[in-house]
Amino acid sequence: MSLAGKNIIVGISGGIAAYKTLSLIRLFVKNGANVKVVVTPNALNFVTKLSLQTLSKNKIYDSVFSEINDYSTEHIALTDWADMMVVAPATANIIGKFATGIADDALSTTFLAFDKPVFIAPAMNNKMYENPAVQRNLQTLIECGIHTIESPIGELACGCEGKGRMEEPEVIFERITGFFLTLEHADHAPTKPFCGKKVLVTAGPTYEVIDPVRFIGNHSSGLMGICIADELADRGAEVILVCGPSVIKSKNSSVKRMDVVSAKDMFDVCKQHFETADITVCSAAVADYTPKQIASQKIKKKDNDLVLKLTKTPDILGYLGEHKTSEQFLVGFALETENEFQNAETKLKSKHLDMLVLNSLNDEGAGFGHITNKISMLFKQGTGCASTPLSARTLSGAEMSAPTIKHFELKNKMDVAKDIVDEIFKAVMSSAVETSP
Ligand code: CTP
Repeated sequence: MSLAGKNIIVGISGGIAAYKTLSLIRLFVKNGANVKVVVTPNALNFVTKLSLQTLSKNKIYDSVFSEINDYSTEHIALTDWADMMVVAPATANIIGKFATGIADDALSTTFLAFDKPVFIAPAMNNKMYENPAVQRNLQTLIECGIHTIESPIGELACGCEGKGRMEEPEVIFERITGFFLTLEHADHAPTKPFCGKKVLVTAGPTYEVIDPVRFIGNHSSGLMGICIADELADRGAEVILVCGPSVIKSKNSSVKRMDVVSAKDMFDVCKQHFETADITVCSAAVADYTPKQIASQKIKKKDNDLVLKLTKTPDILGYLGEHKTSEQFLVGFALETENEFQNAETKLKSKHLDMLVLNSLNDEGAGFGHITNKISMLFKQGTGCASTPLSARTLSGAEMSAPTIKHFELKNKMDVAKDIVDEIFKAVMSSAVETSP
């Protein structure tokens, strides 16, 4: 795709990967984009102003206090000019500043004033990358709508192996051109394809109360389901989000959020809305068991073991599958630790699902507590545009009913939500075509 006429700010912070950004700038300029470069003072320890200036064919912005040439506030004029900002490499320091709203150099100030799409390509040592503070900051940025270009696993500048190196310039370039392409398509296609559809989404963990101070819970943050709800609302759906305890806020203010605590609460709210929902996505990590009795007072410590008697919670997805009509589309999730595909296939069939999103805890970066996820999707036979038959042994007899499967790369959860919503759209549309007279 040509980038002719596109104005891109390339932000560079102080990491060794800054040398690769020279190739990225070259790729942008070669493909017709106008590029203006904003650097932190530390970035200039790794690349020179002269190289950046020569490749971008523009002056470099390295200070908010530099001499005024055109009598405009430079970082504001820049943000008005640009269509997009790409920060590569984004160090732990600049990610921290972006996440907390600190503006003490040209790059962080420009970022704060920029209200258009921003992509960041993190680059740092693997231990820094995995540090909870950095992960928290990345999560904050994702929740603010910043696109992250995930660090691949590989050899780092320090010589060790791990996650944290900056993605290659060609890959970053592909992501950016892909994004512009999607925007162009969105301009021509109906922007709200889910308009008129009511969607019920469950998200987050459930808390099962033991006594006034304790509960049984799980590590789900709710991020995956909240991103799905936002994505569906962005595409025009009327979304009801039934959410267990989660501190994450929905970005799209049209999402009607019903906060619940226990599996029983979630079940009750889902039952109220399911009948009128066209599409239901159950991504919540619902507790399977709850204490048989809730102690009215705090359970005191004794010398012997404590035995808690648990009873099964309602299987919300199972109930919805049993009660769904042929016009309703039902999506379930499965988080598995072993025999992933067999278990997922069984769940798809036994719970009468149209589609199942599988994540395995064996995949690095997938599941709970990560801002990323790696999924596969299983489709009921005849649903969607899935590619590979799961039971690819033969396609005769009983195996004609085998589900089909699609695998996806490790991505941040906002992008995973886009993939899931894309597949729901394709499946719902194809079944609408099949059933129409
Ligand atoms: N689910 C639900 N109600 C429950 C338990 C799970 O609606 N009480 C939904 C989840 O939201 C998810 C799907 O069921 O969409 C699968 O959840 P999972 O825990 O993987 O499966 P279970 O059916 O609970 O089976 P198991 O834990 O034995 O794997």
